[in-house]
Amino acid sequence: MPSYKRILLKMSGEVLMGQNEFGLDPATVKRVAEDIKEAVENGTEVCVVVGAGNIFRGVSGAAQGMDRTTADYMGMLGIVINALALQNALEQMEVMTRVMSAIPMSAICEPYIRRKAMRHMQKGRVVIFAAGTGNPYFTTDTAAALRASEMNCDALFKGTKVDGIYTADPEKDPKAERLESLTYMDVLTRDLKVMDATAISLARENDIPIVVFNVKEKGNLAKALDGSGTFTTVTN
Ligand code: GTP
Repeated sequence: MPSYKRILLKMSGEVLMGQNEFGLDPATVKRVAEDIKEAVENGTEVCVVVGAGNIFRGVSGAAQGMDRTTADYMGMLGIVINALALQNALEQMEVMTRVMSAIPMSAICEPYIRRKAMRHMQKGRVVIFAAGTGNPYFTTDTAAALRASEMNCDALFKGTKVDGIYTADPEKDPKAERLESLTYMDVLTRDLKVMDATAISLARENDIPIVVFNVKEKGNLAKALDGSGTFTTVTN
C-alpha cells in the first residue's frame, strides 16, 4: 500500500444529505468532518471537492428544459453552500480550513489562486475547493481531477456509497463483483461509470491514483488511507 502524503477527497453532494431526500443533514456533515479530521491528525494533507446534487443537479435541470449553462451555474452555487457547511463543521472541531471558489465571491470566501492554495495546504489547512472548475459542462469529478493535479496530490480519494468499483451496479445486479485494482484504460474501455471520461483522462495524464471507497461509513477514509479498508484503486 503506497503512503499518500497529500490527497484530494471528492464527495458527491448526496453524501451530505444523510438519510434525507434533499439538502444538508448537519449530523452527516459533522460525521464526514470527523473523518477528515482523523485523516489530518494522522498526518495527511487533505483538500476537498464536493458536489451539489443534494441541492441542485445541473444535468437534470437541463433535462427539464433549463438552459444547460444556467443550470450548471446553479449547481456551482450549490457547491459553495456545501463547502461552507463543511468548513463550519470542520472549524467547530478546530480543524483549520480555507474555502476557495473557482468563481470569485470574495465576501463569502477566497478566490481560487493556486499558489495561495498550495501555501494553505503546506500549513496543514484543509482547503475546500468550491464552485467546481468555474465552468459549465464540467463535472465536479473533473474539478476534483484538475485540483488534485494542480495541488500535486498523491491520490484522488473518491468517496461514494459503495466500497469500490464493481463489474456492474451492485445495487441492481447481485452478481456484481468488486474489483481490487484496475487501470484508467479499463475504466474508460469498460465504461465502468466511476467518473466521467474527462476526469479519468486528467488523472491518467497526471498519474494520480484514484481510490474509490465508501464514505458513508465512519472511519473509512482513515482505513482507505492506511490500506486496511475495502476500496478499489485505479492506476496506470
Ligand atoms: P497566511 O498568510 O498564509 O497565514 O494565510 P491566511 O489565509 O491566514 O491569510 P489571509 O490574511 O489571506 O487571510 C486571513 C483570513 O481572511 C482567512 O480566514 C481567509 O480565509 C480570509 N480571506 C482571505 N482572503 C479572502 C477573500 O478574498 N474573501 C474572504 N471572504 N475571505 C478571505
